[in-house]
Amino acid sequence: MKRKHFLIHYINKYKWKYLFGIITLFIVDIFNLFIPQLTGEITDGLQTHSLDMGGVLSIVLKILFVGLVIAIGRFFWRYFIFGSARLIEFEIRNNMFKHLSGLSTRYFNNNKTGDLMAHFTNDMSAIRMSIGPAVITSFDATIMTIMVLVKMITHIDMKLTFVAVIPLFFIAFGSILYGKAAEARFEAKQQAFSDLTDQVQESISGVRVIKAFVQERKELKAFAIANRNNMDKNMRVVKLQAIVMPLLDIVIGISSLITLLYGGYLAIIGEITLGKFIAFNQYIGMLVWPMIAAGESITLFSQGHASLNRIKDIFNEQSDVFDNDNVKDIQSIEGTIEFKDLTFFYPESSYPALQNITLKVEKGSTLAILGRTGSGKTTFANLLLHLYNTDQNSIHIDGNDICEIPLNTLRENIAYVPQDNFLFSDTLQNNIAFGANTNDINLVYDAAKLANIHDNIMDFPENYDTMVGERGVTLSGGQKQRSSIARALMKNSPILILDDALSAVDTDTEEKILANLKKNRINKTTIIIAHRISTIQNADHILVLDDGKIVEYGTHEYLLSLKGTYSTIYETQQLEKQLENE
Ligand SMILES: Nc1ncnc2c1ncn2[C@@H]1O[C@H](COP(=O)(O)OP(=O)(O)O)[C@@H](O)[C@H]1O
Ligand SMILES: [Mg+2]
Repeated sequence: MKRKHFLIHYINKYKWKYLFGIITLFIVDIFNLFIPQLTGEITDGLQTHSLDMGGVLSIVLKILFVGLVIAIGRFFWRYFIFGSARLIEFEIRNNMFKHLSGLSTRYFNNNKTGDLMAHFTNDMSAIRMSIGPAVITSFDATIMTIMVLVKMITHIDMKLTFVAVIPLFFIAFGSILYGKAAEARFEAKQQAFSDLTDQVQESISGVRVIKAFVQERKELKAFAIANRNNMDKNMRVVKLQAIVMPLLDIVIGISSLITLLYGGYLAIIGEITLGKFIAFNQYIGMLVWPMIAAGESITLFSQGHASLNRIKDIFNEQSDVFDNDNVKDIQSIEGTIEFKDLTFFYPESSYPALQNITLKVEKGSTLAILGRTGSGKTTFANLLLHLYNTDQNSIHIDGNDICEIPLNTLRENIAYVPQDNFLFSDTLQNNIAFGANTNDINLVYDAAKLANIHDNIMDFPENYDTMVGERGVTLSGGQKQRSSIARALMKNSPILILDDALSAVDTDTEEKILANLKKNRINKTTIIIAHRISTIQNADHILVLDDGKIVEYGTHEYLLSLKGTYSTIYETQQLEKQLENE
């Protein structure tokens, strides 16, 4: 979608509704014009005694009819224009979410959650206001002004019209200045709101760390600052309005005084009738609103414009990981993985997270990866999932370059237990069945049994219907890990990656899970990332990483015989175990 035509595309879809809305608006405005005229007719008729009660009644009936048309018309323009604006807001928001979910990990690493949330809330309402109420206001203001002026000139008096209207132009001019001043303040207000959202979001997700480090006071202070900033920025908007509104009253007042004086004079010398004098005053009253509205719609448009630009930035953001043209029609994956002299830098990073990795994992075998924090283990998993782009020909799966495998096929065929296992605020059953295309309870049971979490779940008050997370029970670290493992096993994929997924599980449970895996993963590729040798010693091959490089590779026995890094780690851990047992 091209930048310039962004909104047009949406508005075009509802052009008929907009047109109907504007036509009804037009009709309402025309009918509005009759009321002062009719009041004037009553006044004149009464003054010249040419009206009897029946005549008054018939004019009153006319006024009633006009009022009815206006009321119905107002319903329709609201329905058509506000309704379209809501629908467009709904569609843009949907599309924005869809677009966002297609963006790569890099985007989410670089953008704050609070900012993104503000785009979905504040910016979307600003856009809605500019394509709904602002459209009405500006059309109404223009049509109304022109029609009232014409009516005043033709129906009453040209000179009087000119004299009375001059101050009103000051209002229009002032409104434009006000709009400009308001825009800058509005921008600041939106930013302050974003910052506040961010602050709240971080404090809430980080509440455990904050409590553990007894930093509540610091958080309170930071929150108070963000909150004050938000209030200050809102206050600046309020102050501006507080100054402008009385000024407006003064100009309106002056305008009315002029009308009264000059119009009174014209009525006395008999140039206009009393009825016209009264009608004229009402017309002047009808002009005030469009003048203010002009300013208001300018503000709304500029706010909407600012918000639209921010949102367009999201839409213009392209995912850097996507299916290229050279992607092959691959539907399934066997599970042979090969790295060929892979070196990988994270975007915007100056040192390689992985360096010269050459390695083959045969289908059906188990590879274990061991290494210090920061040695590149998680990066290994990230690259297999194609969360980041790699050089061509550096990773092959079943002999196909990873760049040529459709992302969906790739990810559907890899079951992944991330290091920071995340569970949704949903039932355990739905969490475990999350990646599978069924939530058959028997399959959920099987997966949970393999992950050794079934018995725990049966102890929960509502078993598999127990809610997890913010709206339900709090699981222990080990329970979370095992639920994530169950979720991955339920997918029953040709490739399984466990990223430090057993770190919070005790050794007995770990042994049981590993034994289950051994049975369940026959003929399927499994990659286990761990830092305990007990977790990995039975793997077919063990890869020891340090600083992104392969330092040792082989079976447990072979690596021990090398008497290098692996055997040192092994001895240290054996010693620790002995000390624990004593
Ligand atoms: N998103 C990222 N952007 C930039 N650098 C990263 C990113 N994620 C990890 N790194 C860096 O890459 C290196 C390897 O990290 P990682 O694979 O997470 O290590 P491990 O899982 O072994 O602890 C570390 O130096 C880390 O700081
Ligand atoms: Mg890691």
